[in-house]
Amino acid sequence: MTECSTSTNNYLELLKTRPMIGAPLAGVSTPAFRRIVRLFFDGLLFTEMVSVEGLIRKGSGTMVFLRTNENDMPLGVQLFGSKSESYGDAVKVVLETMAPAVIDINMGCPVKKVIKTWSGAAMMKDEENIAKVVRAAKSACGSVPLSIKIRLGWDANSVNYNEVIKIAYEEGADAVTLHGRTKAEMFGGQVHYDLIADAKSRAKLPVIGNGDIVCCETHKRMLETGVDGVMIGRGMMKQPWIFQAINDGKATDGYLTLPRLKDVITRIIELEQENARGSRYIDASKKYIVWMLKGLPGAAALRSSVYECTDRAQLDDLLERFFLSISDTQTDRS
Ligand SMILES: Cc1cc2nc3c(=O)[nH]c(=O)nc-3n(C[C@H](O)[C@H](O)[C@H](O)COP(=O)(O)O)c2cc1C
Repeated sequence: MTECSTSTNNYLELLKTRPMIGAPLAGVSTPAFRRIVRLFFDGLLFTEMVSVEGLIRKGSGTMVFLRTNENDMPLGVQLFGSKSESYGDAVKVVLETMAPAVIDINMGCPVKKVIKTWSGAAMMKDEENIAKVVRAAKSACGSVPLSIKIRLGWDANSVNYNEVIKIAYEEGADAVTLHGRTKAEMFGGQVHYDLIADAKSRAKLPVIGNGDIVCCETHKRMLETGVDGVMIGRGMMKQPWIFQAINDGKATDGYLTLPRLKDVITRIIELEQENARGSRYIDASKKYIVWMLKGLPGAAALRSSVYECTDRAQLDDLLERFFLSISDTQTDRS
């Protein structure tokens, strides 16, 4: 049972109405992509992870990650960085720039570039520093809820999620998202549902379960751990309609009719075009197109042709021909 009362924990309030959350995904959760997800979802989404050091410098390359608009709500901001002394100012910059629903601290990223600076999953190795970081961030957050996003631990020999959750609670964090793998496990194998259930049974703050939710069945499996909410990453990245499909109790594969899927793909290209400079939107759109078409007849063969496109006309032509060819083999997938 979660100890925080609903009157003191805003995150718990949020989870009551929005128990599904879209994960922060570096290189993916752009404002354009979030608008696509919001065609199917009115819950909490996150920015990509944002460097606290970059925020303090107000570098243009960092500030761009805070870009949002009034239709992009509720939106959480995820921060990464290991220096507690940087968090107060970094959170201040966020709060001066926009109005996040939540601020989250990344303690789970396994990417070398991040680990190298003792950020992301490397933070799990230094519990004393976690206490300092959470304390500093919390005191700057004011009434904005603060969460942490962790893994089970660094590796099988240093599983410390319960200790980290306890520290975060004592330092005033409002919630924790737990990806049920260690850093050493990266994204391999199956998520450890039993350990997520263990974390939930001991935690005095809301626990959001994360890992491998791609359909109604895996969503149900995660809820069986008793968690207060769930976070979906790769499932959303490949099928941005996943939240609506789960709410409808329907399969995520084939959830959209082919014409609707074509519309969604066209829209992501348009939105990337509005957001990116010059022709960079072409490259930015390609990965989404490949992910969303995956599993359709001929999609595997189409992949390299998509990556070879250099302008919008080529991309449009390719998609037009692809959808024509599959509508000959399938009429409507809904
Ligand atoms: C492309 C990609 C980018 C990611 N970027 C972030 C990030 O910026 N911050 C973070 O905390 N986790 C990040 N993650 C991890 C996800 O948020 C999530 O914890 C992980 O993918 C497990 O959930 P899933 O099985 O639903 O994908 C990323 C994962 C992927 C695949």
